Amino acid sequence: MVLSAADSAVLFRSRVLFVSGKGGTGKTSVAAAIGRLAAAQGRRTLVLELDNQRPSLTGIFGVRPTYAPTEVAKNLFISNVEWVDALGDWLEAIVNLPRVVRLIMRNHIVSVFLQATPGARDLVVLWRVMALARSYDLVVVDMPASGNAVAMLSVAHTARRLFEQGPIRRCADDLVNLYHQADTRMVLVSLPEEMVVNETVETARRVGADLAPLRVPIVVLNRATMPSLSTEESALLTALLAGPSAGLAREVLEAGRWEAELETATKESLDRLRAELKLPVLVLPVLARGEGALRVVGQLTSAMARASSVPVDLRGGA
Ligand SMILES: Nc1ncnc2c1ncn2[C@@H]1O[C@H](COP(=O)(O)OP(=O)(O)O)[C@@H](O)[C@H]1O
Ligand SMILES: [Mg+2]
Repeated sequence: MVLSAADSAVLFRSRVLFVSGKGGTGKTSVAAAIGRLAAAQGRRTLVLELDNQRPSLTGIFGVRPTYAPTEVAKNLFISNVEWVDALGDWLEAIVNLPRVVRLIMRNHIVSVFLQATPGARDLVVLWRVMALARSYDLVVVDMPASGNAVAMLSVAHTARRLFEQGPIRRCADDLVNLYHQADTRMVLVSLPEEMVVNETVETARRVGADLAPLRVPIVVLNRATMPSLSTEESALLTALLAGPSAGLAREVLEAGRWEAELETATKESLDRLRAELKLPVLVLPVLARGEGALRVVGQLTSAMARASSVPVDLRGGA
């Protein structure tokens, strides 16, 4: 399924791309694949995890992402925004005196700051995302799962209600400003399962209600089973399943039934996502079980390049 050039441009021509979706849908893999494809197109790209104790990017790139970005391939960097480091940097940007900042961090002001300010952690981490975005063409942010991602990004609005002025207010204003930028976008990853599609639709609506004008211009349907049976083959399969069969023949027919059900689930999910969200859907195939995280990302990257007709040479990448 080929997306239009404009649809795919939305992914690679963004400056900040928040990737979210239900847990286990493939957020991290999709974020990494988008990063690889953008880097292969010559864009200086950073894939970020937010304060993750056990960063998933480690399993993909074979390097543990640290606070300072690491280059893992040409034009491709990864990082984990540990919030304590982000807090130090934020304070330094405000106070502008490293010695004072070290003093503040030592003097338990940190915990006071945390207790006094709702969402302070999220705010400081997002401040770091904004700071990094200045040095890259594209920052892909591997966000928490759906509801948590919306709650995290909503911290900007909460902080604006609480603070009329001061550094927290300025940070919140900058964030709201970021959501207004046409090249800041959110991508939701879904699966061909009814419950997951429900959550995708609900999350897209919540983003519209709570984070407007942050854009959700495209949805990814991951682990899709592409149609392979013709109408005649489907009819034949149904007829054979209805008749008598045993042993190996029965097993083969059951496997066919399973495949046909997956194809139907993919088609139904695709139809629903398109109908309810009125958005283009990037369809990525389900890959064989037992593939390593890196190979999954490699194959998703190729599928993404094909689907969005991006002419890039992915050999020699990460
Ligand atoms: N299209 C796919 N086909 C097969 N396995 C996949 C696919 N996408 C992701 N995976 C695998 O599924 C697991 C969960 O993916 P991950 O990207 O970590 O999801 P999330 O970040 O949403 O929790 C990983 O082992 C990943 O390699
Ligand atoms: Mg993940």
